[in-house]
Amino acid sequence: MAATGLPSRPSPRQAVVVDGLSFALNGNNVSYRFHVDEETGDLIGDHFGGSVDENPIAHIIRNDGGWANHAHVRREFPDLGRGDFRTPAVHIKHETGHTVCDFKYKSYTIVNGKPPLPGLPCTFGRNDEVTTLVVCLEDSYRSITAELSYSIYPQLDAIVRSVKITNNGTDKISIEKLASFSVDFPYGDYEMLQLQGEWTRECHRIRRKVDYGQQGFGSINGYSSHYNNPFLALTSPDTTESYGHAWGFSLVYTGSFSVEVEKSPQGVTRALVGMNPYHFSWSLAPGETFVSPECVSVFSNTGVGAMSRKFHRLYRQHLIKSQFVNKPRPVLLNGWEGVYFDFDEDIIYSLAEESAKLGVKLFVLDDGWFGNKYPRHNDHTSLGDWQVNTTRFPKGLGHLVERVKKLRAAGSDETLQFGLWVEPEMISKKSELYEKHPEWALHVGENPRTENRNQLVLNVALPEVQDFIIDSISGILESAPITYIKWDNNRGMHESPSPQNYHAYMLGMYRVFEKLTTKFPDVIWEGCASGGGRFDAGILQYFPQVWTSDGTDALDRIHIQFGTSLVYPASAMGAHLSAVPNEITGRTTPLTFRAHVAMMGGSFGLELDPRKISEEDRVQIPDLIGLAEKINPIVISGDMHRLVLPDNSNFPAALFISQDGNQAVLFAFQILRRQVHNFPTLRLEGLVPTARYKVDGENIYSGATLMNGGFQFRFARDYDSKVVFIEKV
Ligand code: GLA
Repeated sequence: MAATGLPSRPSPRQAVVVDGLSFALNGNNVSYRFHVDEETGDLIGDHFGGSVDENPIAHIIRNDGGWANHAHVRREFPDLGRGDFRTPAVHIKHETGHTVCDFKYKSYTIVNGKPPLPGLPCTFGRNDEVTTLVVCLEDSYRSITAELSYSIYPQLDAIVRSVKITNNGTDKISIEKLASFSVDFPYGDYEMLQLQGEWTRECHRIRRKVDYGQQGFGSINGYSSHYNNPFLALTSPDTTESYGHAWGFSLVYTGSFSVEVEKSPQGVTRALVGMNPYHFSWSLAPGETFVSPECVSVFSNTGVGAMSRKFHRLYRQHLIKSQFVNKPRPVLLNGWEGVYFDFDEDIIYSLAEESAKLGVKLFVLDDGWFGNKYPRHNDHTSLGDWQVNTTRFPKGLGHLVERVKKLRAAGSDETLQFGLWVEPEMISKKSELYEKHPEWALHVGENPRTENRNQLVLNVALPEVQDFIIDSISGILESAPITYIKWDNNRGMHESPSPQNYHAYMLGMYRVFEKLTTKFPDVIWEGCASGGGRFDAGILQYFPQVWTSDGTDALDRIHIQFGTSLVYPASAMGAHLSAVPNEITGRTTPLTFRAHVAMMGGSFGLELDPRKISEEDRVQIPDLIGLAEKINPIVISGDMHRLVLPDNSNFPAALFISQDGNQAVLFAFQILRRQVHNFPTLRLEGLVPTARYKVDGENIYSGATLMNGGFQFRFARDYDSKVVFIEKV
């Protein structure tokens, strides 16, 4: 196997070890340890980092006395109101009005495998792949239990945590905050790495020093959002892509979230990841239970790159349920940027015909195909009326799909597949659905309903709304042989009837996703939210791919895709080449550059009007599609190495190596031509030094030569690019 920076043999340590009141989770290259303080019953963190055999030598301080009596203490589940003056992981309001909790250790259990979380997306695995330790704490005064569930995937150095709160008392309580992961790091210097952005500019890497006080980010959009991704990495200050410590945290949740990092005056750094307390307040009656979403943490002591590769493997193998997760994806053409709302059946059919001539395998009809009383001619109407518009498609959707499916994709024996856009969680005021059910839109009494993109959000917390969506989408899929659905979501939430409703919406949405994706497993489901407004691990449980961004400018896309790959696998990224000048940036880049950037995504496609392609481009596109299809299996399931980051260099580059190590594909780019500076040397990673590799079907080199000597490229112009195919001989 290739030296991928990933473990290749089983851990010699047992995955979960309990020794009296000490607990250890062991992976191949990680140990996570904590113990019960015998005096206080509190859970105290001992170590989270590279493998150890016992607790590190530490000067344990229980109580400094004076003001800061918990100041040096590393707590596993920090509560509020008993002298820990840092940000808490849990905040519960009791019926009497106070918010003091006193969680003390009670018991533990070890479970082989990983029990699912009720109603929530979560990682999974066989008994020999994952082990779960559940530690039960009890607030003895109030009869509230908190079960901290830690699952370890030893092969991937991943620890997954969620928390279950049960009200065993006689009074109602309200959970105001519940972080999924909370961990205190010992005195030291750290940096934090996050993914920040906005519409058409998602997932840009931001790295900053963790300083004294609180630093954080999150979302209060109702969804995970374009602005910040539910991901955090803490690193040592000297960590690079291929060197040093990195602790990644990824929340398996699509709702508003919160990441809090706090360096105490004593230099202990606390990291908390969970639902956003502004959008959460959960009332729990006696006997009731609440389970938090889970947060995955991955540790790497060989840099940020290896952390990403562990996330990618974990998510491909243990999160994404779709049968397509490791399968090459059909090259698609989506006409949205080509025709927007301006089409009828003849136009759509001609787009499909042209697509087939280029060698495209899947044709996608985007927005604008539905609504009769209020035809969807622009974004002001029709959301909710999921019936085909009979003026545009007089013979119905089934008729169009059957016609398209008869077209043969050039250069293959395949006929075209058909895909469709929907936006089922939304409602337009101008729609038949709104006339019938205005109460289904999110609202607060008689308050105005805030519109955005001229639309409102359905209250998916309501079971009748969930059933409406399930029935509408099932109806469409049963009416025609559609094999791909692009599930869009083009605005944040507004006027929620209560903070509780934000999470209830998520539970309802997950129920809808679960039902539909189970009922139609042969459909490729693609998530979208004005591009990457909901690119998160929660969505990936159900949808194997997400439209990464509405920004299709290839230069911007390099940053977006490299950033997204910090935590999400390339297989999950939809990436299309679009026309130039780019609609949003006005930038013109060469066809090959645009195509090569898009090929780094698992679902490669074209986003343009195929009737308007220049003759010069038309000649090249079939070959580019052929190349995309050749390398797609490696991109889909290979290990990605970000060799050179676009943030740091004029020559960004990435290498994908197949799981068996036999094939690899190298992407190398030059952004701007600089006279005499356009011959960069690129050293590869992850190959076997002693193995021999054929490069682009020609010369043979050893892995050592390719990794230590590297390639020197000759780039000729602005926005130049190379894709190199490497094969073990
Ligand atoms: C969003 C999506 C686009 C397109 C439009 C249609 O912006 O991200 O790809 O589907 O909606 O309205």
